[in-house]
Amino acid sequence: MNVLDAIHARQSIRAYRPQTVEPHKLETVLEAANRAASAANLQAYQIHVVRRQAAKDALAAAAAGQKFLATAPVVLVFAVVPARSAAKYGARGEQVYAMQDACAAVCNAMLAAVELGLGTCWVDAVDEAAAGRAAGLPPGQRAAVLLPIGYPAENPPRTPRRPLSDLVTDPGSA
Ligand SMILES: Cc1cc2nc3c(=O)[nH]c(=O)nc-3n(C[C@H](O)[C@H](O)[C@H](O)COP(=O)(O)O)c2cc1C
Repeated sequence: MNVLDAIHARQSIRAYRPQTVEPHKLETVLEAANRAASAANLQAYQIHVVRRQAAKDALAAAAAGQKFLATAPVVLVFAVVPARSAAKYGARGEQVYAMQDACAAVCNAMLAAVELGLGTCWVDAVDEAAAGRAAGLPPGQRAAVLLPIGYPAENPPRTPRRPLSDLVTDPGSA
C-alpha cells in the first residue's frame, strides 16, 4: 500500500475485534509515530501504551464516556510534554508546538495502522486530568489524544469532505 492509498483508506473505526495486536505491528505503529516531524526535532510528547482493561475503562470515562475506546485491545495515549519545547521556544513551544508535535505523531500512527490492517480513531482526552490518572502520566505531561488500535469490527460509510473549491484559497499565479 502506498502513502496515498493509506491516506484515502483511513477512516475512524469505533468497533474492534477482541483479537490482540501483534507486538511487531504495534512496534511498527510506534516507529512510524516516532518519525513524525516535530519543532526543532524536540518531540515534545510521550506515547503511553495502555492495555489493562481497568485503565482503558477509565480512559473511556475521561473521554466523555466513549465506551468503544475500552473495547480496543490497546490504546495509545499521546501526552504533551510542554517543558521539552518550552526550553527552546518558551510560551509558543509550551502552548503550540508540543501539541502540534503530538498531533503529527498521531497522524503517522494512524496511517501506519491502515497499512497493517488495523483500525484507529482519534479520541479527544476530554477530561485531561482524569485521562492522565488513567494512563499513569507523570507530572509535566498532559493527555492530548487517545488512540485506540485494533482489528476493525465495522466498515463504516465514508465520511464526506468539503470540496477543495471551499477548503482551499488559491488566488492562482495570474
Ligand atoms: C481533534 C479531533 C478530535 C476527535 N475526537 C473524537 C472523539 O472524541 N470521538 C470520536 O469518536 N471521534 C473523534 N474524532 C474523529 C472524527 O470524528 C473523524 O475523524 C471525522 O468525523 C472524520 O471521519 P473519518 O476519520 O472517518 O474520516 C476526532 C478527530 C479529531 C481530528
